[in-house]
Amino acid sequence: MPTPAATIAPARRLRGRLTVPGDKSIAHRYALLGALAEGRSTLTHFSPGADCRSTLACLRALGVEVDEGSDGTVILLGRGLGQLRSPAGPLDAGNSGTTMRLLAGVLAGHPFSATMIGDSSLSRRPMRRVIAPLERMGARFEAVDGRPPLTVHGTRLHAIAHEPETPSAQVKSAVLLAGLHAEGTTSVREPAATRDHTERALAAFGGRAVTDGLTVSVTGGQRLHGRALRVPGDFSSAAFWLVAAAATPGSRIEVDDVGLNPTRTALLGVLERFGARVQVDVRTTDAGEPRGSVTVEGDRMGTLDIAPAEVPGLIDELPALAALAAHGGQVTVRGATELRVKESDRIAALVAGFRALGVNAEELADGYIIAGPAAGSTRPSGGRADARGDHRMAMAFAIAALAAEGPSTIVGSDVVAVSYPGFFETLDRLVVPLDGLGSP
Ligand code: S3P
Repeated sequence: MPTPAATIAPARRLRGRLTVPGDKSIAHRYALLGALAEGRSTLTHFSPGADCRSTLACLRALGVEVDEGSDGTVILLGRGLGQLRSPAGPLDAGNSGTTMRLLAGVLAGHPFSATMIGDSSLSRRPMRRVIAPLERMGARFEAVDGRPPLTVHGTRLHAIAHEPETPSAQVKSAVLLAGLHAEGTTSVREPAATRDHTERALAAFGGRAVTDGLTVSVTGGQRLHGRALRVPGDFSSAAFWLVAAAATPGSRIEVDDVGLNPTRTALLGVLERFGARVQVDVRTTDAGEPRGSVTVEGDRMGTLDIAPAEVPGLIDELPALAALAAHGGQVTVRGATELRVKESDRIAALVAGFRALGVNAEELADGYIIAGPAAGSTRPSGGRADARGDHRMAMAFAIAALAAEGPSTIVGSDVVAVSYPGFFETLDRLVVPLDGLGSP
């Protein structure tokens, strides 16, 4: 079968108002906590991406009744803390690192063994970062050189104080979820703040996590209660449109009903630094998650240096941000070695893809420098960029390709379905073509 490829035509600018699919990170957590809660949870605007479908499939295999409506509503009948059932076969996390790592924390506290598998990308990703603390809590693991397939032998857990070396919301969440099943108070002290959706979601389900600076703790044995919750739009999906607007002067993009949790929105300050006009309107904070609208208008081009300390707040937006510099200006990122162990080696994949599109790109051990079209041209040539099985690569290359002189091809473009089915249709709607009448 031929690999699906998308053709991207050059754009003059982007204009429009839109909503984006439900947040992937938050949807995983609502589904997992809904499964551990007592009673029914109704989750609306649930993420339609394949990653969150993997979490739901795993929960079904663990005995949770899950009903998926066609309108993005997911209804779960929670089994109560520690009450998941031993699965009949392996649990397939697909492409989703969040599913595997967070579920490892949950399964560590259950009195049975379960094996989690993933696709070829997930099978290369490091799991020692969750295995080590969960083993300290009492669980046992089998893995292949620290990578999936991952077998969890769950047990009665005891609390630990964990200090991960690398900032990671997935590791923090795995340990906190295990901590819910442990005797005593489990704490995680992070080297830098990461997204706090687990902490907020716990409160939404009637539980409690206590945050003190960079330390978060949970006490075991809390009872959670099923809830009706709406998942906000995914800021990391919105990021591609916000960057595209910032990159093309005369653009204006408004995203409504998007999550505006401050641990996720560092990109907005960065776009202002680049020269874009950014307007944020927080409308509500239901279930502890701020949401509202963001408008970005492209103005002038700048030069951006992303410092290592900024990386945790931008981790999923770095591919989009790299695309900014395909349009002009320069983006330098350092201190982002974590990008090498995402769905692909994002440093290598970004640099290879941008070069293939005619954009100046240089690989650093811990980041990259993206510096606009090749010397002597006003627009990159365009070309054929390979998404390497990574949803955020496919979307970053599409946004970069808008800057090109001619059409470009994104090879393996269907991988956007991991987090953003409908991405290319939305692109078509928002783009004002370079060779069109250029109306608005
Ligand atoms: C996520 C945390 C981040 C992020 C990933 C989703 C989460 O990973 O890159 O896409 O939902 O907790 P790390 O916490 O490993 O940096």
